Order: sequence, then structure tokens, then C-alpha cells
Amino acid sequence: MMNTKVQNAINDQIAQEFFASYLYLSMMIYFEGQSLGGFAHWMRMQAEEERAHALKLLEFLIERGGRVELQAIDKPAADFESPLAVMQSALAHEQKVTKRITDLYELVVAERDYPAQVMLQWFITEQVEEEASAGAIVDQLTLAGDSGSTLLMLDAKLGQRAGME
Ligand SMILES: [Fe+2]
Ligand SMILES: [Fe+2]
Repeated sequence: MMNTKVQNAINDQIAQEFFASYLYLSMMIYFEGQSLGGFAHWMRMQAEEERAHALKLLEFLIERGGRVELQAIDKPAADFESPLAVMQSALAHEQKVTKRITDLYELVVAERDYPAQVMLQWFITEQVEEEASAGAIVDQLTLAGDSGSTLLMLDAKLGQRAGME
């Protein structure tokens, strides 16, 4: 039997990962509307990654004989001011997720759930990468300022993002 507190917290995190996927899809739609296909592609990949995170947690619960309870997913923001504003809110969202993962990790340590600790270490490492990649795009967009040609160069670069690592 899985610890109920841990099980509930992982169920909450599954919903959070699906929300992140939904949010990035919303951002993808914004970029498509701006004809920034590279940014849109990057967001599409990002949405896929978040869905994979949700499934990783879900499979973990199944393997442990826990109960998966899918929850309602909140409606994501749909209006964005600029590419920079989108990437800033993507970064802010990742920072929020990092905090949630850390809280979840603290819980599984307190509950002495060792398999969950090992599984969540993957997420801790992943969050470092997630914050770094969103942060780098924020930095590059800030440097680009009002330069349309730099924005298009960045768009071309982001369009080359490969599938899930
Ligand atoms: Fe995630
Ligand atoms: Fe993420």
C-alpha cells in the first residue's frame, strides 16, 4: 500500500504537469498567431515534454499499486503581450514548478518513501534544465530588444529544437 499523503501529492503533481502542458500549448497558439513558427515549435515540444512528465508520475503510481486520480485541469492564460512576456511567464511557471517539486521531495523524505525520493531526483535535475532553457531564451529576447531581424534569427534557431531528450 502506498502512503496516502504521498499518493495524493503525486496525483496533484500529475495535474500540475498536465496544466504546464496545456499552458505551453496556449503559448504555442500565440506564437503561431504571430507567425513565429520556430517559437511555436519549441512550445509544442515543451508541451509534449510536460505530458511525458505527467505520464512518468502516473506510471510510478501504477507500479507502486497506488491509486491514480486524474483531476480537472485549469484553464491556461491565453492573452500574451509579446514574445518576451510569454517567455518570462514560461520561466516564472518553471520556477513555480521547481518549488512544488522541492516541496514534494520534502514530503517523501519526511514520509520515508525511498522509491519516491529516487524518482523525484530525476525531476529535480530536470527542473534545473527547464529553468536554464527558458531563462536563456528570456535573455536572448531581452538582448534582441526591438530588432525584428534578431527575433527572426532566434525563431529560426528555436525551430530546430529536436524531439524529446
Ligand atoms: Fe514538468
Ligand atoms: Fe517544465
